[in-house]
Amino acid sequence: MTEQELIHRTEQYVRKTLKDSESGHNWFHIERVWKNAKQIGQQENVNMLVVQLAALLHDIADSKFYHGDETIGPKMARSFLEKQKTDTSIIDHVIKIMENISFRSGYEKLSFLSTELQVVQDADRLDAIGAIGIARAFHFGGYKNREIYDPAIPPDLNMTKEAYKKSTSPTINHFYEKLLLLKDKMNTITGKRIAEERHIFMETYLQQFFAEWNGEA
Ligand code: ADP
Ligand code: NI
Repeated sequence: MTEQELIHRTEQYVRKTLKDSESGHNWFHIERVWKNAKQIGQQENVNMLVVQLAALLHDIADSKFYHGDETIGPKMARSFLEKQKTDTSIIDHVIKIMENISFRSGYEKLSFLSTELQVVQDADRLDAIGAIGIARAFHFGGYKNREIYDPAIPPDLNMTKEAYKKSTSPTINHFYEKLLLLKDKMNTITGKRIAEERHIFMETYLQQFFAEWNGEA
């Protein structure tokens, strides 16, 4: 099978698997991350097959929807890629990226590092910020029945991994707890550049939000 065929089959598999998933993690999220990853990867010395497969498969089974089980996604991806007779070295690399990509693993020491991981991680982080990131955050908050904002509940910047998962705080807090921190966590030059633009957009958005909240705009 050619690389193009493998990528195409992976795309079909992911589309089908995510058919009924909620809109923060549906096929369109994957498609955006895939595009971001190709754009960022072009500027780096990386194996683009690994980058593309990892971008396509990274949310194949979000642990949030599997009782926190973080091993299901990597297992599904491995079994899919083995059926396609993909090289073991490629499979192992894709799985390592999937295991290490999440923001939450930022709380622990990374056990693996590669430029391919850095590219896909940047691509995924970009989709959490800017206009799309704002939409995804409020969508997620609504899905979890959270308040938009509550001045009495300040952001908590020192949450443990467990507290972060259990948090029920208003969606505006999520900007301070995660989204506004992402630009300084970007790995690649291209990722940083795009993140900075999206960051400014979020700051402008928040200024307007609070101005409207306080009757000043
Ligand atoms: P990703 O799949 O992008 O690594 P997550 O699974 O953590 O990220 O979250 C999916 C989307 O939901 C992201 O856009 C993220 O910002 C948003 N999200 C996650 N946690 C919260 C929260 N507590 N409040 C609002 N939005 C959230
Ligand atoms: Ni993702």
